[in-house]
Formats: sequence, C-alpha cells, structure tokens
Amino acid sequence: MTTSREKRWSLAGATALVTGGSKGIGRAIVEELAGFGARVHTCSRNAAELEECRRQWEEEKLAVTVSVCDVSVRAERVKLMETVRDSFDGKLDILVNNAGQLVLKAAIEWTADDYAQLMETNLESNFHLSQLAHPLLINASILGGGSIVNISSVGGIFGYPGLALYGITKGGMNQFTRSLAT
Ligand SMILES: NC(=O)c1ccc[n+]([C@@H]2O[C@H](COP(=O)([O-])OP(=O)(O)OC[C@H]3O[C@@H](n4cnc5c(N)ncnc54)[C@H](OP(=O)(O)O)[C@@H]3O)[C@@H](O)[C@H]2O)c1
Repeated sequence: MTTSREKRWSLAGATALVTGGSKGIGRAIVEELAGFGARVHTCSRNAAELEECRRQWEEEKLAVTVSVCDVSVRAERVKLMETVRDSFDGKLDILVNNAGQLVLKAAIEWTADDYAQLMETNLESNFHLSQLAHPLLINASILGGGSIVNISSVGGIFGYPGLALYGITKGGMNQFTRSLAT
C-alpha cells in the first residue's frame, strides 16, 4: 500500500498563484502545493527575502517562481497577473489570496491614509486579483475549473479590541467569497 502524499494526491500539471509566499501561512501553502507537484508562482514586497526563498525552493526541487509585487498597488497587481499569465501559458488552476496585514490599533486612531492602505492591501487586492485571474481561471485545465482561496480570519467574524479595521477587511472578504461562490 502506498502511503506517501505524492502517491495519494497529485497536483502535477496544475498551476497556482499564492500572494505573500515568503513567510508564514503563505510560505506553507506554497510549499504544500509545490510538494504535491503544482507549479507555483508567489510574490511579496521584499526582493532579497523572496530570492532567498526561491533559492531554497530550487534546492528542494520545488517548482516555484517569484516576482516582487506590492498587492496594495493596482498597477503592480496587473503586472503580477501578466507575469503569471505568461509563465503558465494563460492558465491558472488556483489563486490563493493570502497576502495581508494585521494592524492592531484603536478605531479612533486610524487616519484616512491608514484606512485606505489597509483596505487596499487586505480587501481591494483580493477583489481585483480575483477579477484579473478570471480569464486564466476559466482556462484551468486540471481541476475542472479554477479555484480561488481567500485567506480570511476569525477577526472577520468576531469582534476583538483594536481589530475594527482588520475585521472589516476580513468580513468583507468573507462576504465577497460567499458572493463569488454563487
Ligand atoms: N497568522 C495568523 O494567526 C493568522 C490568523 C488569521 C488570518 N491570517 C491571515 O493569513 C494571511 C497570512 O498571515 P501570516 O500571519 O502568515 O502573515 P506574515 O507571516 O506576516 O506573512 C505575510 C506575507 O505576505 C507578504 N505581504 C504582506 N503585505 C504584502 C503586500 N502589500 N504585498 C505583497 N505581499 C505582502 C509578506 O511579505 P512582505 O512583508 O515582504 O511583503 C509575507 O510574505 C493574512 O491574510 C492574515 O490576515 C493569519
């Protein structure tokens, strides 16, 4: 009987974009998807960290490509999806909207600029990258249609001190996910 995960499951031939893959949850997702045989592209804002990750993944024989992208910048999101389209021949099986920031601050202390920045990073990037990915997802070849995975938070469901705005972004993400699912 075969017990290795590669034999039980395979994503060979599948392609995935994971935002924010240089650390934390995003990095674990990149490594898991690539470990199952998917070709993965990931991004973050820190070029040096990203290159170090790429080098380690290459050593581990994981098929991961990288590019620098700040998902809070609209033009950079467009460029990221162009890179993904060109790397994966216009097809994307999995989009993981993971890049996000948790900023702990009392609601009365948020400035308009802070507000716009967190909304753009955590929520608008999610919406826009999903729009940009659509033409690639409908070309998905492996999974019978592409999938979008949004990394939300319990902060999008329950209230916590200092997390009003973070909670708005994740609550919005939850509702966007429900809407797309219909
Ligand atoms: N950790 C938790 O307990 C937890 C719980 C619930 C939900 N989440 C959610 O899970 C996701 C990942 O959290 P994490 O804890 O793994 O975070 P993390 O360790 O801080 O890693 C975040 C990753 O996203 C990248 N990133 C951040 N801002 C970015 C931007 N504007 N553009 C592109 N990349 C960006 C970071 O790289 P750079 O900083 O170099 O760009 C890094 O690779 C987030 O959406 C978070 O809200 C986390």
